[in-house]
Amino acid sequence: MDTISFMLNGVQTQIEADKNWTLLYVLREVCDLTGTKCGCSTGDCGACKIILDGVAKNACLIKIGALEGRRLETIEGLYCDGKLHPIQQAFIESGAIQCGFCTPGMIISAKALLDANPNPTDDEIIKALSNNLCRCTGYVKIIEAVRMAARLLAE
Ligand code: FES
Ligand code: FES
Repeated sequence: MDTISFMLNGVQTQIEADKNWTLLYVLREVCDLTGTKCGCSTGDCGACKIILDGVAKNACLIKIGALEGRRLETIEGLYCDGKLHPIQQAFIESGAIQCGFCTPGMIISAKALLDANPNPTDDEIIKALSNNLCRCTGYVKIIEAVRMAARLLAE
């Protein structure tokens, strides 16, 4: 086993894990953070999105050994002081959630986008979500939700 230290949702964290385990496996099975979903394990669906040093990435493609000294945000980090994050609120209010399996990954991709670009165009939203698959919604409501989130965050 290896000791790996990193910032997890704003908290300095140290874990024992095989450095070759995937970040997705460690989040779900070691850290008990099951909001990050596994849809494919091959980098194709975006259900496992996390934000690493400000950039949305697929946790299924990252080895935990690469986390040393880095800053990680997961979907669990968005809920704060008993309140949903404005992006989570916007997804609910826009009807952008059906089965919900893709939703954590969608919200994480949206957060990485809006952190870097608070007022994105529709094309920029579509590009930022292009690695997130949804089998239920048809994407229209999801794009509306990101637009609404940008408005809520600006207020
Ligand atoms: S589980 Fe990682 S991209 Fe699908
Ligand atoms: S809401 Fe079901 S996969 Fe997107």
